[in-house]
Amino acid sequence: MSSALAKIEDFPSDPVEFFKNILQAVTYEHPDGYMQEMNLATVDDEFGVLNRTVLYRGLTEDNCVYYITHRYTRNFKNLRVNPKACITFYLPTVKDKTGEQSTWQVRLIGATAVELPESAMDALWAKENLSAQIRGHICPCGEPINYDDLKAKHDQFLLEHKEKAIERPASYTALKFQPQRWDFLKVGLEQIADRVQYRLQGNGKWESMHVST
Ligand SMILES: Cc1cc2nc3c(=O)[nH]c(=O)nc-3n(C[C@H](O)[C@H](O)[C@H](O)COP(=O)(O)O)c2cc1C
Repeated sequence: MSSALAKIEDFPSDPVEFFKNILQAVTYEHPDGYMQEMNLATVDDEFGVLNRTVLYRGLTEDNCVYYITHRYTRNFKNLRVNPKACITFYLPTVKDKTGEQSTWQVRLIGATAVELPESAMDALWAKENLSAQIRGHICPCGEPINYDDLKAKHDQFLLEHKEKAIERPASYTALKFQPQRWDFLKVGLEQIADRVQYRLQGNGKWESMHVST
């Protein structure tokens, strides 16, 4: 049996730069491309808190994490009532420069959701794959459905749109997040994790520090 302390070394002063570096190390492990998911927790009137997996779509021009959704989902409705959210990335295979592999968790704490402007939507919609575009038109999120009915609707929609572009539904939207804190946790096998936290100060600058796990 062995035990050690993980150590996060050389972290930049800006949390987004740190996040990018970690994601790059993951991408390096997946040269053919991969999808990065994140867990999004919102305040929900009925259940208190509600979380779900969503696709991380990258960073906006102002360096905010964003995702895409539809206005009829609970995640969107929750964020409209209460824009505060928490986001977790779980990254189990991050290799550092020396080749050492570790698991990371990156968390955006006290993150305020802000909807992206309508003017950004066409470009995002154009990049969606076909199934995502069809889903946007035929799926009443969260309502009971019958597989055969939905399949018939899907196949009919597909047939009707063989030759023509699929219109962006009014429900299609994207939200970015402005966190109060970024929390980075690194751990390896038989190690006690190390954490670095960035806390947004009143002057808009980030203060960073190691915090206990
Ligand atoms: C891998 C994966 C990626 C997903 N990506 C998204 C996404 O980007 N946006 C989204 O609204 N739902 C996404 N979903 C579906 C959500 O997890 C969730 O089921 C849906 O948004 C309805 O949840 P809600 O009622 O809490 O809003 C994804 C699910 C999985 C498994």
